[in-house]
Amino acid sequence: MKPGIALVGPGRVGCAVSKRLHEADYPIISIISRSMERATEACSYIGCSTTLASVQLADLATAQIILLAVPDDQIQRVAKKIQATTHFSRPATLVHFSGFHPAEIMYHQSSPLSLLSLHPLLPFADRQKAYADLQRCPCALESTDPQTLELGEELVDAIGGQPFTLEADKKPLYHSAACLASNYLVTLLASARNLLINCGIESEQAIQLLLPLAQASLENVEELGPEQGLTGPIVRGDIGTVTEHIKTLQDNAPELLNLYLQMGVVTVTNSQRSGRLNPESAAALQALFSAKIKECNAI
Ligand SMILES: NC(=O)c1ccc[n+]([C@@H]2O[C@H](COP(=O)([O-])OP(=O)(O)OC[C@H]3O[C@@H](n4cnc5c(N)ncnc54)[C@H](OP(=O)(O)O)[C@@H]3O)[C@@H](O)[C@H]2O)c1
Repeated sequence: MKPGIALVGPGRVGCAVSKRLHEADYPIISIISRSMERATEACSYIGCSTTLASVQLADLATAQIILLAVPDDQIQRVAKKIQATTHFSRPATLVHFSGFHPAEIMYHQSSPLSLLSLHPLLPFADRQKAYADLQRCPCALESTDPQTLELGEELVDAIGGQPFTLEADKKPLYHSAACLASNYLVTLLASARNLLINCGIESEQAIQLLLPLAQASLENVEELGPEQGLTGPIVRGDIGTVTEHIKTLQDNAPELLNLYLQMGVVTVTNSQRSGRLNPESAAALQALFSAKIKECNAI
């Protein structure tokens, strides 16, 4: 018999992960929300009986695995409340899903619970899409206890993911990387979309024009790596084109100029690593970016 699961916080991550665990034959003991309506809806989505819906933390007392899928800023408080108020009838593990916090953030004096952090490296914008994407999703595991890490690997296998371990003190850096690769990528596309709207293109069409470009760029990174997968005026050393980009952004979208310049600096470094940008062009581009950044900062 697999260990019984209780979910606290049936949001996007909690629902998608619990649905996978339920389908992998982990018995669901309770789904706990601050609202009975949301708990009941989550039970229906996950596919377990709606009688397991609850608004009482006490209903997790018989669980062996407690999924604490609440927002990062609530993890410590809710973990403390669970451990301070619940008498667990058997050994249990408390799991949070934050990519930023260590498992130890859930530590509570003299609590018998084991602590695990399990971070699916996936954007959960929509729970059903995320549920599908969990298949082969890399999942970062972190715990000070080797046995708890083993349990984490079993859970990741059950949800279809690919486990890897991470040291607790590396999590902020790791999470910053995830933020750059996912959240900032989306923001960059929104910014590019806004520039196309300035060209007179409809918002929806703008996204459809940009997506194949972005997807092909991702494929280039996959096939060639981020250095050889880089294209465009910077790696070609086309300083004239970059100078005109800066002018047109100054005139038409000054709110994006600083972003363009800062990304330009990093792109020059990446171009140099690729071995395709000669040192003279790199120096000229860095001088151009530095001068414009200084101008921006002086305003
Ligand atoms: N979103 C992502 O892309 C992603 C990816 C990987 C990991 N994670 C991590 O997964 C965890 C959950 O994120 P999520 O995106 O699933 O969030 P979410 O969709 O907002 O769900 C969080 C749930 O926690 C409950 N909750 C909210 N505020 C609370 C409070 N003040 N006290 C107690 N419960 C509260 C809510 O459930 P009720 O209202 O029903 O109580 C809510 O549905 C976070 O640690 C996050 O860092 C997120």
